Amino acid sequence: MKAGNPVTMTLETAASTTGQIDALLQEDRRYPPSAAFHAAANLSDAAVYERAAANPEGFWEEEARTRITWFKPWDRVLEWDAPRARWFVGAEVNAAYNCVDRHLQSWRRNKAAIIWEGEPGEQRVLTYRDLYREVNRASAALKRMGVVKGDRVAIYMGMVPEIVIAMLACARIGATHTVIFGGFSAESISDRVNDCSAKLVITADGGWRRGARVGLKEVVDRALATCPTVQRVLVVNRTDDPRVVPMQDGRDVWWHRAMADSGAEIVEPERLDSEHPLYILYTSGTTGKPKGMLHTTGGYLVGTATTHDTIFDLKEDDVYWCTADVGWVTGHSYLVYGPLANGATCVMYEGTPDYPDKDRFWSVIEKYGVTILYTAPTAIRTFMKWGSEYPAKHDLSSLRILGTVGEPINPAAWVWYREVIGGDRCPVVDTWWMTETGQILIAPLPGITTLKPGSATFPYPSIEADVVDDQGNSVPLGKGGYLVLKRPWPAMARTIWGDPERYEKQYWSRFPGSYFAGDGARRDEEGYFWLLGRVDDVLNVSAHRIGTMEVESALVSHPAVAEAAVIGIPHEIKGQAIAAFCSLRAGFTPDDQMAEAIRAHVGEKIGAIAKPDKVFFTAELPKTRSAKIMRRLLRDIAEGKVLGDTTTLADPAVLASIKEQYEHTES
Ligand code: WT7
Repeated sequence: MKAGNPVTMTLETAASTTGQIDALLQEDRRYPPSAAFHAAANLSDAAVYERAAANPEGFWEEEARTRITWFKPWDRVLEWDAPRARWFVGAEVNAAYNCVDRHLQSWRRNKAAIIWEGEPGEQRVLTYRDLYREVNRASAALKRMGVVKGDRVAIYMGMVPEIVIAMLACARIGATHTVIFGGFSAESISDRVNDCSAKLVITADGGWRRGARVGLKEVVDRALATCPTVQRVLVVNRTDDPRVVPMQDGRDVWWHRAMADSGAEIVEPERLDSEHPLYILYTSGTTGKPKGMLHTTGGYLVGTATTHDTIFDLKEDDVYWCTADVGWVTGHSYLVYGPLANGATCVMYEGTPDYPDKDRFWSVIEKYGVTILYTAPTAIRTFMKWGSEYPAKHDLSSLRILGTVGEPINPAAWVWYREVIGGDRCPVVDTWWMTETGQILIAPLPGITTLKPGSATFPYPSIEADVVDDQGNSVPLGKGGYLVLKRPWPAMARTIWGDPERYEKQYWSRFPGSYFAGDGARRDEEGYFWLLGRVDDVLNVSAHRIGTMEVESALVSHPAVAEAAVIGIPHEIKGQAIAAFCSLRAGFTPDDQMAEAIRAHVGEKIGAIAKPDKVFFTAELPKTRSAKIMRRLLRDIAEGKVLGDTTTLADPAVLASIKEQYEHTES
């Protein structure tokens, strides 16, 4: 339970959690772009890599000029005083203007911006012009409720068009949004709201999940009991809940009433400095406290729009579907800002992939003629397990590009995705990036790159990535090491909200001058990058980041738990699953009921995604003499090397003897 060194896990362990690295490196299947794809690709000249490497700032300046509309041009492309970056210094810009207004100047005004499908089956299409009207009305409502440029607004909602409208309305008036994933608990909401002193919360009465109403407003109400900065709450009516949603007088306002009050009001987009804070997004790290990654405006738009266009080879008539929830960074960069800046048609789906049946995704693709699909390996493995008969029931021939993100993808899942979903004709782009990086940094260019299943291939043009050893020296091809980035990029996070020191320490001090990602990686003999998973105490469960310390804090806040340690264990579908080792206070019984109560408690404290899959009870936790929990040892135990893998009572004697053995070999 102490803040550890950022690198507390060995590369060997990282590799073993993603499995079979040696098998990976023997992967010999190759998928070059077809001649037709190459000929029609947005980027088809491999010289772009040399051009961008020779002049990275010039490369991004050109993208900024051609892709984004600026109210005022920049004086300098980049000011870099590591780790402080400022991009397009002196320029003025507005994200909502770029994602909406400017498309009204062309035929795109009546192009579908968002094609939305609710879980119960409703459909809504918002054209760019519709989006313009809605964003203006929401901006006017926010202003009437006292939100001004520079304020923070928290958004806690499911996957409905209003979440996008709310984000763009904030961006329009220069308020900084922080979207909190709809699965987080009341306590997680209040932690985030208080950390950034949000003034207003936008939420919904609830949402639909697997055929049932899930309450959201009630969770917000509980959170706000401890959030003194929040003055107003806007509530979208999503579920027409027949139970009365209690509205607090003077604080809560229904979204549809506020929108009606706005009428046809137009709110001029603020001319914002390029470095104006666009959003804060909280992500897990190696301590118990999530980090509020701050993203700013100009560079972020350039980075996301450029990579979205080139990596997904976006064409004007594509129907693009990113399945990520808007509550995560993938939703921010590749469902909202990148695609809308590019004037794309985006599909948005509210619910789960297995409702009403396990073919829902394939039915959505067939119904709307989706051409580009961007999803996570955990979803692909789930679909594989459900069986090819579900996609086989639908015509998926509209698809032309497949993307994956969030965790390493095993070659078997990659090949299944390509063959079964992509009919063996669609390039699969495996995209490596992070909440902190804002944009994709390692990925193929589908018109150029010969793909290898399981490899994210090469750094994007201008991105200088390296794999280094403990001393920061580049390791030879074929060897494993830590992934670092040696140059700034436009969509990079600028700092951690309210904690610039932590930002510097966490990312820029391990290898001075370089960004330390926290991932292990290897390059093969041809220079392809293979990501090996996290090398710190950060878990990746179903492509969601969860900090071991966060879960441990939640565990020890249960009255029965004296001490707790959490590790990730390999999981066929989720990538990693959470295993918790708990020692109980005197008088409590370590049985199945207790395990279930502890799991539920973590769900209450953080959210269902953080619930441990397994709870092991131990008399004590194995620690070093300096009282550091030996998670690696626990990992061995959990992987069945010592214990069985069911929720069960551990044999304290086994742990004690391992401890003894370990300390013996350590000294
Ligand atoms: C961590 C970042 C970026 C959006 C989703 C996750 C892992 C991400 C890949 C990939 C291997 C990947 C890394 C990274 N990761 N993409 N293509 N191959 N690993 O964002 O929650 O900030 O997590 O996800 O471990 O550090 P995030």
